[in-house]
Amino acid sequence: MANEERSVGIVMNGVTGRMGYRQHLVRSILAIREQGGVRLPDGTILRPEPILVGRNENKLAAIAKEHGLDRWTTDLGEALSTAGAEIYFDAQVTSHRVESISAAIEAGLHVYTEKPIAEDTEAALRLGRLARDAGVKAGVVQDKLFLPGLRKLKRLVDGGFFGRILSVRGEFGYWVFEGDWQEAQRPSWNYRAEDGGGITIDMFCHWRYVLEEIFAPVRSVQALAATHIPRRVDERGDTYDCTADDAAYGIFELDGGIVAQINSSWATRVFRDELVEFHVDGTEGSAVAGLRRCRVQHRTMTPKPVWNPDLPAGEDFRSQWQEVPDNDEFDNGFKVQWELFLRHVAAGEPFPWDFLAGARGVQLAELGLRSAEEGRRIPVSELSL
Ligand SMILES: NC(=O)c1ccc[n+]([C@@H]2O[C@H](COP(=O)([O-])OP(=O)(O)OC[C@H]3O[C@@H](n4cnc5c(N)ncnc54)[C@H](O)[C@@H]3O)[C@@H](O)[C@H]2O)c1
Repeated sequence: MANEERSVGIVMNGVTGRMGYRQHLVRSILAIREQGGVRLPDGTILRPEPILVGRNENKLAAIAKEHGLDRWTTDLGEALSTAGAEIYFDAQVTSHRVESISAAIEAGLHVYTEKPIAEDTEAALRLGRLARDAGVKAGVVQDKLFLPGLRKLKRLVDGGFFGRILSVRGEFGYWVFEGDWQEAQRPSWNYRAEDGGGITIDMFCHWRYVLEEIFAPVRSVQALAATHIPRRVDERGDTYDCTADDAAYGIFELDGGIVAQINSSWATRVFRDELVEFHVDGTEGSAVAGLRRCRVQHRTMTPKPVWNPDLPAGEDFRSQWQEVPDNDEFDNGFKVQWELFLRHVAAGEPFPWDFLAGARGVQLAELGLRSAEEGRRIPVSELSL
């Protein structure tokens, strides 16, 4: 007997943007449709039906046409009241998020959203309470957890590879062109604080869940935020003043005395194997994990270099590390998390990355910015809805 099918309408806002289009529409929702849907525990096949919503009619129509979709509108209210719409998804610019999500919750839809869920912690917690009181399910994108490199790192932690973990050093970033002689590869709102931009708010949300899910709870933050490039050229060719930080140098104290230092920068040139890398040192071994790869050096295999600036380096240090095997198949992380959220909505399966988790990310960013302003280390308190 054929499995029963049921469709789930998803209002997708911000699909003309980088993340909304590529990662969420094409690589997640359309990819799920192409694979035939998501199977629920009772055998039912859940088929997502996107309803595109945005500001620009022409762009929406073009996307819909290209992908054979027939439902799109520039009216959020109309989208939210479409028959069969059960989930609202938001990948708009951050500054428009709270208003649209609130409207979706009031319309009785479940909500899934890009991070940061709001621009400040209080607003994030208010959203969480709104969702809880309305009895709708709410989830936030935490895509880095699903990166193959970080999953291997988590596997090493769970397997006890490191012994006592001492420190974590993260390097994230790349050069974002100023837009004068080569087009910038990120939208200009990222460099304007008044439009919700800034690398601290963008990246510290990620570092909160990465540090806590792989290592331990974050107890304090000390950060220095900088605007290294003071002027850039926007999408229309106009020069503008950068009012948001484009680099954030953070030190985080974790439970168990683990010290994590993470540099996040759009003003650095990459001399790494991947755009993000974490170097973890433990008493029993060390690891370097990127987006996909993870390499380790065990205590028993650790060489004994001797400092001698009079001689050229005599060892090839990188060759002294071993590759951690995949031992698994890794699908696109955004898609994997979408499948989990769909099962959460349709079959009540657990989904730990709710709006409280989203608010915790915003909190770390907010405290990071405050630390930078005040020049001091700030404790991270527990949040609750
Ligand atoms: N999970 C991740 O790794 C990740 C990575 C990058 C960005 N993001 C998040 O995704 C969201 C979108 O980022 P993006 O890089 O795709 O941005 P983008 O500028 O490419 O897209 C923004 C979207 O918002 C819409 N929008 C609505 N009101 C707008 C306004 N007033 N000005 C400009 N655009 C407006 C645009 O039409 C577009 O669809 C942000 O909240 C960002 O923090 C997440």
